[in-house]
Amino acid sequence: MTETFEAGWLALREPYDHAARAGVAADLLAELTARAAISVVDLGAGSGSNLRCLAPHLGPRQSWRLLDADAGLLAGIAAPPGTQVAAEVVDLAAIEMVALGADLVTATAFLDLVSADWLGRLVACLDGAAVLFALSYDGRIDWDPADPGDGLARELVNRHQRTDKGFGPALGPDAARTAARLLAAAGYAVMTADTAWRLGPGDTVIQRALLAGYREAAAAIAPDRAGEIAAWAGRRAELIVEGRSHLTVGHTDLWAAAPA
Ligand SMILES: C[S@@+](CC[C@H](N)C(=O)[O-])C[C@H]1O[C@@H](n2cnc3c(N)ncnc32)[C@H](O)[C@@H]1O
Repeated sequence: MTETFEAGWLALREPYDHAARAGVAADLLAELTARAAISVVDLGAGSGSNLRCLAPHLGPRQSWRLLDADAGLLAGIAAPPGTQVAAEVVDLAAIEMVALGADLVTATAFLDLVSADWLGRLVACLDGAAVLFALSYDGRIDWDPADPGDGLARELVNRHQRTDKGFGPALGPDAARTAARLLAAAGYAVMTADTAWRLGPGDTVIQRALLAGYREAAAAIAPDRAGEIAAWAGRRAELIVEGRSHLTVGHTDLWAAAPA
């Protein structure tokens, strides 16, 4: 079954995603920025955050295909200046059935949903395209000040990350590492960058949303510990309200250039 994401959550995270990628995208895309024309396929494009982040870094003629299973998220995405944008509702689980045919295959906040098997099949379909997988979750959830329940919550959330999201057992925190290994084995030159979110006391809304998601995921994995998890979430929520909570969420960006 396809994992669904709320438009409100994607809108809330977008400025944090773009801030985390600022500077990194330009470095990783140095080879592509020089091209006057480029075709891009964005896998799991959602409501177009990756398009809005990358378009200003690419050349004057860009053609984008935004692929996602959720028609509601794809609806009404505006084309930034210099871009042609086509949105396609498609279930990417059968990736070998999707004609990619692009200069750049990219995805953001998507890779951690897929399985190693799916990723291997994607790499086999790339046909020389460059690759940019941004904001793959890497397993880090570091709260400050620390609470004795943080370790258990992180472990349960990371176990939840590995459950099937419609592509087979999800890679979760191993997504970028596995992609780097598979792409290198296919002859790609791979670079990675740290694109963690570093949230502070001013980032109350997103910290609360993340905490609610972590609580739900942890309780789904260990229903017998739901009381303990609820108590932990209550203590963390108090710190957020008091303006004393810092949270780092680890992400990795991966750039891979095709074999010459
Ligand atoms: C975390 S969201 C990221 C969306 C967007 N890339 C962003 O950064 O805001 C993951 C996206 O993957 C899409 N997705 C999940 N499973 C899918 C599938 N089987 N086929 C196509 N899209 C899928 C969801 O609809 C959602 O838009």
